[in-house]
Amino acid sequence: MGVSGGYSDLLIEHLRTPRNTGVLQNANGVAVVRNPVCGDSATFMLRVDDGRITAARFTAQGCGGSIAALSLTTELLEGLSLDAASQLDRDAIAEAAGGFPSSKIHCAALAADAVRLALADYARRAAPA
Ligand code: FES
Repeated sequence: MGVSGGYSDLLIEHLRTPRNTGVLQNANGVAVVRNPVCGDSATFMLRVDDGRITAARFTAQGCGGSIAALSLTTELLEGLSLDAASQLDRDAIAEAAGGFPSSKIHCAALAADAVRLALADYARRAAPA
């Protein structure tokens, strides 16, 4: 797999053509995340049905690295069980990306935080009152 500026071909493709952007109208797990250092932010939305992620979308005001990571993450999540989704940490996202530039690894961390917080929001909503 080739790289450019430390980005894998897969990440470059996601950067050029982000997948699953926009608002997910029937989301039942939502997170707003912000990197305090660079100020980049994203809203991440999940739809969970019968214990599986059936859709994931995002909107972002951020760098190319975070947009590529968020885009890839939406694809990685679809069809996963809640358990499997909860394993999707920064390193798992970087590995699935075919590597992440070390200077941009916090962009993958932003995506991982978005997943963790959206799952937590889903769990909160799903909990009996
Ligand atoms: Fe801030 Fe990428 S530079 S998340």
